[in-house]
Amino acid sequence: MILVTGATGSIGRYLVDRLRQQTTPFRALVRDPDRGRELDCDLVVGDFDDPDSIAAALSGVERVFLCSPGAQPVPEPQPMVDQQTTVIDAAVRAGVQRVVKVSVWGARRGGLLAEGAHAEIEARLEASGLDWSILQPSGFMQNFLTGAGAFTSSGDLLGAYGQARVSYIDCADIAACAAVLLTSDLGSRQRFVLTGPETLTHTEIAARLSEALGRTVSYIDRSPADFADNLTVQGLPAQFATDVATLYADVAGGSLAETTSTVSDLTGRPATTFAEFLDREWDLLRRWPPRHYV
Ligand SMILES: NC(=O)c1ccc[n+]([C@@H]2O[C@H](COP(=O)([O-])OP(=O)(O)OC[C@H]3O[C@@H](n4cnc5c(N)ncnc54)[C@H](OP(=O)(O)O)[C@@H]3O)[C@@H](O)[C@H]2O)c1
Repeated sequence: MILVTGATGSIGRYLVDRLRQQTTPFRALVRDPDRGRELDCDLVVGDFDDPDSIAAALSGVERVFLCSPGAQPVPEPQPMVDQQTTVIDAAVRAGVQRVVKVSVWGARRGGLLAEGAHAEIEARLEASGLDWSILQPSGFMQNFLTGAGAFTSSGDLLGAYGQARVSYIDCADIAACAAVLLTSDLGSRQRFVLTGPETLTHTEIAARLSEALGRTVSYIDRSPADFADNLTVQGLPAQFATDVATLYADVAGGSLAETTSTVSDLTGRPATTFAEFLDREWDLLRRWPPRHYV
């Protein structure tokens, strides 16, 4: 039995779709059973902040897909550290064999926001005695459709990446890798850096969006400092804004500019290009621009 956490999220939905087509039994952990019903699979209701619910959800479970929301604009430590530690500790007590965890490319002790938090969780997972596989993905293509990217109210793309290239990945490919690691013996105690098959600048991404939408989407580049000011004006904590701007500056310096062959190595098929992704997600594109913008 597999337990899928984060099942209603960007990666989780694709993972549930994929596991539904396979024979290994699984259940999805959801906070809201109504939302979970859309997943069309066995559900268990639970919350990372309620350890008893997590212990109950893990009964009879051999493998866990561990995924929770990214960095939050709250004082450190990031909530994901306690939340994922709750799952890891409960998994040890429940006799779970393997945890497949979604981390982030660049996770490192002392890193900012998600990078530091994931490194801490990775260390706890490694020390837990459980078998593990850790996925370290690049930025998600889905950010450009769900609003986790930044847009003007008219749908132009905003960022502070200069002309740096980024190897964005489709969450469906992350889910495909997770499915392999959850249903086979591959990947024990290994980290996998997952990227898309190509690197694109944000100007090129805006051009692909323009082509798919049949209207002009421009990329507006700001300095990391301007970007931080903008986040602060919107009411986000100053430290969070500064940290986000620093991470943007890292990306502008090329921190996500490489590609790996891991998706095709693990799944046996090439990773999805940005153009293929936009083609597949035409329904979401029709609702452009995403409601959340800066
Ligand atoms: N965005 C990127 O570019 C990027 C890049 C690399 C790595 N990552 C990492 O990817 C992860 C996020 O993955 P994602 O985008 O698939 O997630 P997501 O879309 O943000 O979804 C989060 C999931 O967690 C569930 N959840 C939230 N709070 C919960 C709680 N208290 N108890 C139980 N479940 C809870 C949500 O359920 P509800 O439906 O109930 O809300 C949802 O299913 C983060 O760890 C992030 O650091 C992101």
